[in-house]
Amino acid sequence: MKSNSTRKDAGQLAFDPARALPTAAYRDPAWLAAEKDRIWHRDWVFATTEDALAQRGDQIPVMIGDQPVLLLRNQAGELVALSNLCAHRGTLLVDQPGNAKRIQCPYHAWTYDDAGRLVGVPFAPSDAIDRPTHALPSYRVESWHGLVFVSLDNRVESLAQRFALIESHVSAGGIDGLHHHSELQTTETWACNWKVAIINAMESYHLFKVHPETLEPFTPTQDAYYVAGSARATATGGIFKGQDDYLLISLPPGFVGVLTQGSFIWQAVHPVDADRCAVRTGGAFVSDRRAGPFGRIGKWLTRAAAVAYPQSDFLLEDKAICERVQRGASGEFIPGSLVPIERVVGDFGDYLNWRLNDVEPPPARN
Ligand code: FES
Ligand SMILES: [Fe+2]
Repeated sequence: MKSNSTRKDAGQLAFDPARALPTAAYRDPAWLAAEKDRIWHRDWVFATTEDALAQRGDQIPVMIGDQPVLLLRNQAGELVALSNLCAHRGTLLVDQPGNAKRIQCPYHAWTYDDAGRLVGVPFAPSDAIDRPTHALPSYRVESWHGLVFVSLDNRVESLAQRFALIESHVSAGGIDGLHHHSELQTTETWACNWKVAIINAMESYHLFKVHPETLEPFTPTQDAYYVAGSARATATGGIFKGQDDYLLISLPPGFVGVLTQGSFIWQAVHPVDADRCAVRTGGAFVSDRRAGPFGRIGKWLTRAAAVAYPQSDFLLEDKAICERVQRGASGEFIPGSLVPIERVVGDFGDYLNWRLNDVEPPPARN
């Protein structure tokens, strides 16, 4: 995972963060290979929400880049991330959420405890297998306001450091008073590169044109503003008619959430291949979903909570425009300049340059 075999020569992934990305970034498998190596296998990647691991013994399989990972809550109540591949012959250990104190391989029943230690090897003399060298590798796992992230590289900075710039805004927005609902999460495949989808989720510039009826009447493009940002995380905001302002947080590489009075709705993107990505959505809500002076948007949020948020019209609109961007990505073009209202896209460019090209990010802006 950490080899440099996919590292591109300097310049091959070069781009100007003040401009759009070149189309090669959306179609070239070499870009994706470098992103796997330098981002998805080395940086913090959103994995799930904490409510999915509420009980001791809860286990869920997730993919972090190409690595199958088993997330669990151990008997001490801590979150643990282990390789989900059996140390015997590499079988996928757990393929669906469950609850157990131990992990037993479905192939030859090698058994591991919740720290990944090998504790059972059937039909083998006790000295036949060196158990410590057959423990499951473990990875960094941390939670931030109920959002669980995993990094396959344990040298990564803490989440508190990563998101420090936006922490006060998120806390002040009341996120800790909300309840995540993992049972409402859904995942779809979009026919576009992962960066097309996440950039689209970050910026509010397209609302008036892509969402004239679904979002623009409630969250007008002209009222969007920049709060604070850097390559590590960005917060933007805007006026939510009839409510307090909303806060939109962008956490590269693949997570965007919108915090409003009484709800936190998020999208998480993960690559499938160069021109397809998985788009996952979910939300956190106040316990009593009928509470609060939400008006029409409240009805929408309530419906979203009740009947699966991805069916909301605005996501279909986003999917259509992102897939349209991808349809053009076979061509060459001169990347256009970003406009001030999409500064967050520039921050994301700084993130890519930092991770892919070792360019030290510019100072935070606020
Ligand atoms: S592959 Fe897991 S026990 Fe054999
Ligand atoms: Fe959109």
